[in-house]
Amino acid sequence: MLAFLLALVLSAVTSTVARPQSYAVWAADSAIARGQGNGLDANGKAIVSYEHGELQWGLQQLYDLTGNKSYFSYIQKGIDNIVFPNGTVHGSYNVADFVLDPLRTGPTFLYLYEKTGGVKYKVAADIFRGQLNSHPRTAQGQFWHKLKYPNQGWLDGIYMGEIFYAQYTQIFEPNNLTAWSDVTSQYTLMFQNTIQNATAPNNTGLMYHGYDFSHKASWASPDRGHSPEVWDRALGWYSMALVDMLAIMPASNAGHSSILKILQTLFPKIVAAADPTTGAWWLVITQPGRAKNYFESSGTSMFVYSLLKAVRLGYIADADGSIVAAAKKAFEYITANWVVSNADMTMGWLNTVVVGSLDTTGDFNYYVSQPTDLNDLKGLAAFLLASIEYEKL
Ligand SMILES: *[C@@H]1O[C@H](CO)[C@@H](O)[C@H](O)[C@H]1NC(C)=O
Ligand SMILES: *[C@@H]1O[C@H](CO)[C@@H](O)[C@H](O)[C@H]1NC(C)=O
Ligand SMILES: *[C@@H]1O[C@H](CO)[C@@H](O)[C@H](O)[C@H]1NC(C)=O
Ligand SMILES: *[C@@H]1O[C@H](CO)[C@@H](O)[C@H](O)[C@H]1NC(C)=O
Ligand SMILES: *[C@@H]1O[C@H](CO)[C@@H](O)[C@H](O)[C@H]1NC(C)=O
Repeated sequence: MLAFLLALVLSAVTSTVARPQSYAVWAADSAIARGQGNGLDANGKAIVSYEHGELQWGLQQLYDLTGNKSYFSYIQKGIDNIVFPNGTVHGSYNVADFVLDPLRTGPTFLYLYEKTGGVKYKVAADIFRGQLNSHPRTAQGQFWHKLKYPNQGWLDGIYMGEIFYAQYTQIFEPNNLTAWSDVTSQYTLMFQNTIQNATAPNNTGLMYHGYDFSHKASWASPDRGHSPEVWDRALGWYSMALVDMLAIMPASNAGHSSILKILQTLFPKIVAAADPTTGAWWLVITQPGRAKNYFESSGTSMFVYSLLKAVRLGYIADADGSIVAAAKKAFEYITANWVVSNADMTMGWLNTVVVGSLDTTGDFNYYVSQPTDLNDLKGLAAFLLASIEYEKL
């Protein structure tokens, strides 16, 4: 009788507990349940993907917080799908393409090397590090986003390349001052070349999506070669790269204060650019309220993560609490509007724009005409990161 009652109570509990209490756990478990970010594409073929690297970055933190070994296994399985036992990286990766995006899985190689000592992860990391040694650059030294986009620096590329570059340096060459100053100049060159100037129309004090040092791209502004708009996800990548970098680079390195200064300049402007009513950020930040523009979920989540982490680690003062308040307001908008509970108790994720590329006109109409999709990992992984920070408050 007792056992029966217990079983009844337990089944009531399991059917009323609709989902994990923690948004971070719910987001991660849902991505895992769908097989997202596991080193394979929709057809089960190996793929080296920055989105997978972004998810793995969140799963590492969640593993530390929860001790749930499933997160670690999933990270390892995802990398084992793209690294052969001899350390060769496969899954459409080719050094000679000189693309920064795939390098975003590099931090996971380093993580697994440190956790397991597996030599193949070091071999794989060395392959990525080798790419950086011959990666094409502008005359000022900025890595090209891709070989096929000569002289172009995109904000996205900082997140893709620099976290790996810095972690590799910190682990294997901590005294390589050339590498540390190179990492720093990737941030400062990107900032100087894309920051909106005070006389720009609709000045937000934020950074345009990218620039072409040769001014040849159709979108390049005649004065400085920058692209026309501030796109939320590009700025989101760059913001995450700022906070994450400050936790990696030794504070004694001169570059640390240069990067800190950029963060302290930029983050108040990000707060100021949030929509006052909803707290969320527009897809095209430079054109708030314009027809077809909308609040976008990946960029908004990236800003929540970056702002909260920056305050938590003391990179920016928040004496009046306004930064945390802005991030909380946005987080509440996210959970009310973009997080949905599916019938199978997994989390559904809405409103992440699929793509924003400068292989286009890069203008307002381009960005707003790109589709959004369901459960897009670029946004869902950013929400995992935002939730981890929110839940630390
Ligand atoms: C650990 O994570 C896995 C994978 O997401 C999940 O299915 C499982 O419920 C978690 N276990 C616990 C004890 O929370
Ligand atoms: C590594 O292993 C893969 C798969 O077995 C093989 O195709 C490749 O040639 C090997 N690379 C080297 C450098 O041995
Ligand atoms: C230090 O970093 C620079 C720049 O990435 C690189 O060219 C050089 O090979 C590195 N030196 C050592 C000793 O690893
Ligand atoms: C500032 O931006 C405006 C508009 O893009 C441009 O005309 C002007 O040349 C820029 N000034 C500087 C100093 O870059
Ligand atoms: C400035 O912002 C307004 C409002 O979003 C928009 O309609 C206008 O097109 C923008 N102007 C420029 C030059 O971006």
